[in-house]
Amino acid sequence: MSVKSLQGRDLLELADLSAAELKNLLQFAADLKSGIKKPTCRKVLGLLFYKASTRTRVSFSTAIYQLGGQVIDLNPKVTQVGRGEPISDTARVLDRYLDILAVRTFKQEDLETFAHYAKIPVINALTDLEHPCQILADLLTIQECFGQLSGKTIAYLGDGNNVVHSLLLGCALSGVSIRIATPADYQPDRAIVEKGKAIAIDGAEIIVTSDPVAAVEGVHALYTDVWASMGQEDLAEERIPIFQPYQINSTLLSHADPEAIVLHCLPAHRGEEITDEAIEGKQSRVWDQAENRMHAQKALMASLLGTD
Ligand code: CP
Ligand code: NVA
Repeated sequence: MSVKSLQGRDLLELADLSAAELKNLLQFAADLKSGIKKPTCRKVLGLLFYKASTRTRVSFSTAIYQLGGQVIDLNPKVTQVGRGEPISDTARVLDRYLDILAVRTFKQEDLETFAHYAKIPVINALTDLEHPCQILADLLTIQECFGQLSGKTIAYLGDGNNVVHSLLLGCALSGVSIRIATPADYQPDRAIVEKGKAIAIDGAEIIVTSDPVAAVEGVHALYTDVWASMGQEDLAEERIPIFQPYQINSTLLSHADPEAIVLHCLPAHRGEEITDEAIEGKQSRVWDQAENRMHAQKALMASLLGTD
């Protein structure tokens, strides 16, 4: 069954979910993936993406089709919001046509404006601050690999960005300890780290360090993301030498648990944050992780839409 308490709500940040809701959502996603559950809903999803996307765009589209619904691509380049129509106006109009809206944008405040003016469920499909849908898939992948989440430890290496913000909150709510290794000037937002510590269950710890080797010692999963996110392309070149010690490669991997898995939200820059060997190696689970975007978002949409 879908997660009843989520009906009609938004998902703007990972911590919009309680620990119990997250657990139930991941179980629902697993049941959808295995085929135990086959909910249907003839609803219309809008995708409003101000940034590029392959996985999120296609996994949301496929998920709503498989639920029996339809998708409309509201590319800002060809809709009036891209020409300056206020978000508040666009949101109120879209609310009259659509059943659910996924937005990928820069500022979290813009996403919040969409959610404020649209009464339908609004989903964060990535902002500069968070990427909660990604983390639903990541947690589903870790759960599949190890049979449980609570008590596991994950290391995130690289930039203190949107992905690690949602990851640390998702880990906290799932009882997963996380060690975040970044260069000193690229740590995650302190307020989000503190929020993670406040909501952590089952003794899950959040450690922020600049020591990549200490971070990966004995962990069950290693995770990385690009060193320069969308919108930071100008900074990519100068960051390479700063982030080099945080690259996931066979040397760093040798410090982790021998059964550790390697995760990356993709797209990857091979030879930068991860080596070709590590992403193609037997410990890599990146393709399962990418597939799980669809199952997790199907569970999310079915729950927000109140479908059984
Ligand atoms: N991981 C992720 O969100 O990929 P896309 O940017 O391709 O959607
Ligand atoms: N941190 C990356 C994630 C891409 C899926 C970005 O925001 O570009």
